[in-house]
Amino acid sequence: MLSPALTKAAKRLSLQAARIVPATTRAYATEDAAPRQYGGLKDQDRIFTNLYGQHDFGLKGALKRGDWYKTKELVLKGEDWIISEMKTSGMRGRGGAGFPSGLKWSFMGKSSPGRPRYLVINADEGEPGTCKDREIMRRDPHKLIEGCLLAGRAMLANAAYIYIRGEFYNEASNLQQAIDEAYKAGLIGKNACGSGYDFDVYVHRGAGAYICGEETALIESLEGKQGKPRLKPPFPADTGLFGCPTTVTNVETVAAAPTILRRGGSWFAGFGAPRNSGTKLFAISGHVNKPCTVEEEMSIPLRELIERHCGGVRGGWDNLLAIIPGGSSVPLLPKHICDTVLMDFDSLRDAQSGLGTAAVIVMDKSTDVVQAIARLASFYRHESCGQCTPCREGSRWLDLMMARFVRGDATRAEIDQILEITKEMEGHTICALADAAAWPVQGLMRHFRPEVEKRLKDAKVGEQIHSDAGYRPDQTIATA
Ligand SMILES: Cc1cc2nc3c(=O)[nH]c(=O)nc-3n(C[C@H](O)[C@H](O)[C@H](O)COP(=O)(O)O)c2cc1C
Ligand code: SF4
Repeated sequence: MLSPALTKAAKRLSLQAARIVPATTRAYATEDAAPRQYGGLKDQDRIFTNLYGQHDFGLKGALKRGDWYKTKELVLKGEDWIISEMKTSGMRGRGGAGFPSGLKWSFMGKSSPGRPRYLVINADEGEPGTCKDREIMRRDPHKLIEGCLLAGRAMLANAAYIYIRGEFYNEASNLQQAIDEAYKAGLIGKNACGSGYDFDVYVHRGAGAYICGEETALIESLEGKQGKPRLKPPFPADTGLFGCPTTVTNVETVAAAPTILRRGGSWFAGFGAPRNSGTKLFAISGHVNKPCTVEEEMSIPLRELIERHCGGVRGGWDNLLAIIPGGSSVPLLPKHICDTVLMDFDSLRDAQSGLGTAAVIVMDKSTDVVQAIARLASFYRHESCGQCTPCREGSRWLDLMMARFVRGDATRAEIDQILEITKEMEGHTICALADAAAWPVQGLMRHFRPEVEKRLKDAKVGEQIHSDAGYRPDQTIATA
């Protein structure tokens, strides 16, 4: 008979197995066990119909594609109807965290009469690997502007500020041109679409700091201050831009809203696995034959996404080493998980990664995976705003230690030390940049620890040089 401790451990293991094994296949099975395949989105179900810029991005082209169709009627249906449809759709925010949008939009409530209320569109798109929002703004800007009006109406907002990354010159310029057209046609501004509702839209260009994509840092930057995240509470829905109720939401989330409202929340909810509904823009880069941004059904298997739309992995699927499935912040996944994992919030969370911004970074076997993660560590160190000690100091240590792992100039004990540092960073800071810095390193050690260790052994220097007590990882850098 097993001892109580062993029984407990066995139970824990079997629970873990139950969690991990079905993670990749769970969404295939419905209640009556009939398998459901996701993916292969049909053209008539696409929301973003000018993603590749074959058509006119201006108002004439947008009207032809069905934008601004009966918008007045949608506005007149009012805030409760819009929020209820968004809740029915199951849309989860496309900015990375995947928070349910209908619920989030309802937080603005109807309180604070007399105070201005703002919708802020997060068009910063700084997450490495991510290139989806810029395609919307450059090629389908009217979808976003119409979305601003409808989301703004849902929140009883007076105006929308679109905070766009400064480097996106063409995107800002096309967006401004589309806004001017919309004002001229009476679609926004006073009595928008003839609905009696007044709504303004402004574009604000940022200066290109990754941290300004974090919603409260974005608000600070919009107010003309340094982009440094604020402590929450108070939450922006209560005290946001200029101290007024504000909701910050992603470009893709808002640009999808008009189609969802026109076709119905349940139409959108019909795509993807339960709790992961809808269609989604995926941006696939790295070692694939044809990198692209494509709209697909949520929960499409990762392998199918790459083989159907990107011409497969360079050198074939068996040449795959690992994939970062949701932008640089999420842990990478080795090939054996990529073989079956589904592209949605819950499946990727169960696989100990995340959907994030759905920016899929593919690495084939030619990749130096230690170097790749070290490069990300440098990025996060550079982008930390420095307010929180665990992030400011921790991101620096990760960068320095990863640089030494690349060279093999470290000890095995330091693998556990670096993991310890990531644990001290995770969840202990004002914003999630510290977590974003920690997770790629955790993913590397979780799946490629032998690769890191082999390198140390190969280099044959770690154990000998650094056995002294009091050794600091950055000493080697300083003298290198
Ligand atoms: C460091 C950091 C950078 C971020 N950058 C972006 C960004 O560029 N675009 C974005 O939409 N969200 C970004 N976010 C998430 C936002 O804080 C926020 O959750 C999001 O804009 C909400 O939109 P949604 O509800 O539509 O998902 C970032 C978060 C962090 C912590
Ligand atoms: S976690 Fe990092 S980036 Fe975020 S507020 Fe703290 S120091 Fe700044």
